[in-house]
Amino acid sequence: MASTLFSPLALGSLELPNRIVVSPMCQYAADDGSATDWHLQHLMSLALGGAGLVMVEATAVERRGRITHGCLGLYSDHNERALARVLAAARAVAPAGTRFGIQLAHAGRKASVHLPWQSGGKALTAAEDAWPTVAPSALPFTEAWHTPHALDEAELTALVAAFVQAGERAVRIGFDLLELHFAHGYLGHEFTSPLSNHRADEYGGSLANRHRFPLRLARAVHAAVGERAVLGARISASDYTDGGGTVEDAVALAAALRELGARYACVSSGNVVPAKVPTTPGYNVPLAARVRGEAGLTTRVAGLIAAPEQAEAIVASGQADLVALARAFLDDPRWVWHAADRLGATVAYPPQYERSKPASWPAAHLARPTDATATPRSA
Ligand SMILES: Cc1cc2nc3c(=O)[nH]c(=O)nc-3n(C[C@H](O)[C@H](O)[C@H](O)COP(=O)(O)O)c2cc1C
Repeated sequence: MASTLFSPLALGSLELPNRIVVSPMCQYAADDGSATDWHLQHLMSLALGGAGLVMVEATAVERRGRITHGCLGLYSDHNERALARVLAAARAVAPAGTRFGIQLAHAGRKASVHLPWQSGGKALTAAEDAWPTVAPSALPFTEAWHTPHALDEAELTALVAAFVQAGERAVRIGFDLLELHFAHGYLGHEFTSPLSNHRADEYGGSLANRHRFPLRLARAVHAAVGERAVLGARISASDYTDGGGTVEDAVALAAALRELGARYACVSSGNVVPAKVPTTPGYNVPLAARVRGEAGLTTRVAGLIAAPEQAEAIVASGQADLVALARAFLDDPRWVWHAADRLGATVAYPPQYERSKPASWPAAHLARPTDATATPRSA
């Protein structure tokens, strides 16, 4: 039977050649928001690999919206030029039809921290050029993090303008798709979750109020870019804490996003408070299935999806329309080729790499880490 994973999907006017997405992944390798040679190699390598959609990492719409000093941004002309170079190079080596998206983000109260490998991401000190953080309410992520300043109406209006400007920059340099980051405990999610949003104004309290600012951002970006880029969002379907955001909240947000013109939601979960996120394979899949079924919006899902058969089953059973992989792509940028091999699908290899096709190798060399029968690499 033909593979669903390797079948095309339309997102509005944008056709994706298959259902496989490189999930957005911060590289902490930028210089004041500007992409570097690290991004060049990282995205060129992933672009070559045949995923239908390659997502660029969380990209801050303003300087204080970066998580760390190494986070990517689109808040200056220099940022724009640096990312234009990377995108053009990635496109030049990608198979025909590969689409590129960018995640527009603001870290909110989770900004101004160390690179993850420096101290596990603890708050920067003044000597390390820490900056003041902002959020819906003046509540820190934990006692060890910066206490944010609660945004006022004028600052919210300025933030909308920053998202719009970054969206304009992204479209100008050629991104096909813009994704608003409303998950993982960053600013958008800080508004939607009752755990981080204690506001008493029209942006806090009821579900409709907590969704108001993220939806205002989405409406403004959509109005600015129109049909020049597909709009979507990454949303959170569980805070894994009593009194936190739920899958029902995510369904309501996805439905509102669909109504304003967004074409998809990526369903993720966790990290708005330090609660434990599940570690079971495909833990977000049942949440995505609920959102897809009840909100009627095209849905992407990520989270411990690594085996080709698992990815195929998720899209073939209609639990999600797209699967995104993060760590599996870091481990194996040629995951798509290997998945095609396992699922009996055909993918285009660049001619320079044709000789890596399974048919060109003696069978004994074909065991790979994604193959359950393969010898562990540590052995
Ligand atoms: C190195 C790394 C960086 C990440 N950066 C982002 C990011 O920029 N934006 C985002 O929404 N998620 C980010 N994530 C989360 C992934 O996109 C993904 O949702 C998560 O890793 C679960 O998928 P996986 O099990 O396939 O790794 C990151 C994950 C990793 C491993």
